[in-house]
Amino acid sequence: MLELKGVDTSYGAVPMLRGVAMSVHPGELVCLLGPNGAGKTTTFMTVCGVVRAQRGKVEVMGRDMATLGTENLASLGVGLVPEGRRLFPSLSVIENLRLGYDAVSGRGSNFEAQLDKMGNLFPRIQERLRQVAGTLSGGEQAMVALARALIGEPRLVIMDEPSLGLSPKLIGEYFEITREIHRRGTTILLIEQNAEMGLGIADRGYVLVKGKVAQEGPAKELLSSKAARSLYL
Ligand SMILES: Nc1ncnc2c1ncn2[C@@H]1O[C@H](COP(=O)(O)OP(=O)(O)O)[C@@H](O)[C@H]1O
Ligand SMILES: [Mg+2]
Repeated sequence: MLELKGVDTSYGAVPMLRGVAMSVHPGELVCLLGPNGAGKTTTFMTVCGVVRAQRGKVEVMGRDMATLGTENLASLGVGLVPEGRRLFPSLSVIENLRLGYDAVSGRGSNFEAQLDKMGNLFPRIQERLRQVAGTLSGGEQAMVALARALIGEPRLVIMDEPSLGLSPKLIGEYFEITREIHRRGTTILLIEQNAEMGLGIADRGYVLVKGKVAQEGPAKELLSSKAARSLYL
């Protein structure tokens, strides 16, 4: 569903990603780990087509991102949860969700049915549909950002540090929901700094250090490997 082959990305003359290769196969939950500044968000932006790869290839759902725009991803079945949530703060929760729904063209089910589904998955936001998004707590905003990605019924969801800034209790709740979404059949690329939590629910993982993949493998192996732990702890 997602493949990066030898991807180089730079900001102006400053190289950021160097030869990044990674893949996400149908049904997997893959965790991309790395310390602050490692290039995780740059990878997210490159996958979404916001930042263009200078070398190598990015394929999403079998399509080359060199010729595909970010705005096409929703209709291809890709849901995005960007770093910092990026809700529209002056719009209500329901309006934010509507935007996620409308991003997908030619859909079968209707908005109200999808809204009900999201309400069941996130009881916390069910009660707050008319509230202005900017007045929600950080945890509630995180749930709305995830619901906005899921309301388009994506087959692949890409999340950039969704747990950032949440309390330990909310992080636990958030990862539990992520695990449940995966269990119900959605493929997930989870970008995280929280290695214990991320690898705890992932099938496989990649460790990004200074723009390069320094380590990869089954999540259990990365959790127990001393070499991997020294990279992300
Ligand atoms: N738009 C940009 N222009 C120039 N440098 C950037 C830009 N965005 C990020 N960077 C730099 O790229 C590096 C990697 O950033 P980022 O991908 O956000 O890392 P991470 O998400 O792993 O913390 C950082 O040193 C950051 O300052
Ligand atoms: Mg980041």
